[in-house]
Amino acid sequence: MNAILKNKRIILGITGSIAAYKSQLLVRELVKAGADVNVIMTPSACKFVTPLTLENLSRNPVIVEMFSGDIQSGGAWHIHTAHVCDLMLIAPCSATTLGKLANGICDTALSVVATALPLQIPLLISPAMDTTMWMNPSTRRNIALLEKYGIIIIPPAEGELSSGFTGSGRMPEVDVLIEYIVNTLSGIIPNKRQLADTQSFESDILVKTDQKFSSLEDKIEKAKWTAELELTKMKNDLNLKENFLKGKTILISAGPTYEKIDDVRFISNYSSGKMGYALARQAQKAGANVILVSGPVSIPSPEGIVKIDVESADEMYDAVFNEFYKCDIAIMAAAVADYTTVNPFNGKLKKTEIGEKLILELQSTNDILASLGSEKNEMQKLVGFALESNNDIENGWKKLKEKNCDMLVVNSSNKPGSGFRGDDNTITILLNDGSEESFPTMSKDGCSLIILKKISEL
Ligand code: CTP
Repeated sequence: MNAILKNKRIILGITGSIAAYKSQLLVRELVKAGADVNVIMTPSACKFVTPLTLENLSRNPVIVEMFSGDIQSGGAWHIHTAHVCDLMLIAPCSATTLGKLANGICDTALSVVATALPLQIPLLISPAMDTTMWMNPSTRRNIALLEKYGIIIIPPAEGELSSGFTGSGRMPEVDVLIEYIVNTLSGIIPNKRQLADTQSFESDILVKTDQKFSSLEDKIEKAKWTAELELTKMKNDLNLKENFLKGKTILISAGPTYEKIDDVRFISNYSSGKMGYALARQAQKAGANVILVSGPVSIPSPEGIVKIDVESADEMYDAVFNEFYKCDIAIMAAAVADYTTVNPFNGKLKKTEIGEKLILELQSTNDILASLGSEKNEMQKLVGFALESNNDIENGWKKLKEKNCDMLVVNSSNKPGSGFRGDDNTITILLNDGSEESFPTMSKDGCSLIILKKISEL
């Protein structure tokens, strides 16, 4: 645990949300790390977890009622409490408390302390609620305002919600919250409360996407936020049309290939397989029968998906062609080696035998995508990927035509939030009707959903 937490005084606000159970674990971890934690709960929070538990875990009295006789020390208890901490975090923060803080409504002990918090003390908020509440325009407006005030919003995670639905709105896990606290205390995440532009609030009853962003980082942040919103809207939409790929069989290739040099060495690339596996997961969720042909990756096998493991480009070619005739859609997301060794060595090559230079003879592999393009029937849809380091779109169009694809997904190898290994990607989709659409950086799961939705519409 990070030493920066030692002796730090942290006010933890807890509001009425099922996620309050995680706050108990958070208190335990913070106390373990040497922090002095003061918990303030709203009355609704007490319906989910008890002040007694939190008192025991934090080893401090818990404040719930703002007029309770126990805390009135000559009045102004809220001011004294707020002034002596290093950081305040509200986790989980309900839609109600977001609304109160955005509008200065001080009718609970928690909202009064948060409002009394001096500007030099950072305030972090971890909203937690169902996706529909998270997407509600009033919540969006309140979040935009709170960010405008310089409050640090910890984006909710995605996943299963207590309502049984799936979407954005979960409170992130304890380690994520602690990372935010540590990064804020150490200045990596700056406290912007003092810089809040109090002059322009009148015109700022805007959603976050309309805010002014200046630096490149801010622009990326804005683009990601827009993408998140779009994606959540799309997911809600798709939830209504659940199983939009039902009855379809989709063949997906993923990961790198290994081209053998000798028994212990190979030529490969940095592909992690994350994009192909995300496509496989999302296609399965959308009701498709998925066949995944995977090069060597360290991602666990997705449950319920037929997976064929291969190593070399040649093996991938054979596996893909064995399955292709069954498929309605093929998505070639693998980073297939373009060249393979002509005579791989049996055993291990020895330096003493090779000498100073090792010259490998390589020959081009079969282009799997191009071969599928020339074999596919009219009903089959073919999607390729293009990884480019420059002239992305121009090269993408060339590949789409040359390989006879219905869709080509262009991603860049040298832009932040794009390409191999990371969890995010920045894609442009080209369609064989000549249309093209670029998307902001988003998770590979998000990109997959967009790609699959587009295919389902072809
Ligand atoms: N591809 C393939 N078989 C190969 C090489 C590539 O099926 N032997 C597929 C990839 O799976 C991807 C698409 O072709 O869907 C484009 O791959 P990319 O590496 O971007 O381009 P290349 O065609 O290999 O051309 P270059 O490396 O010169 O850009």
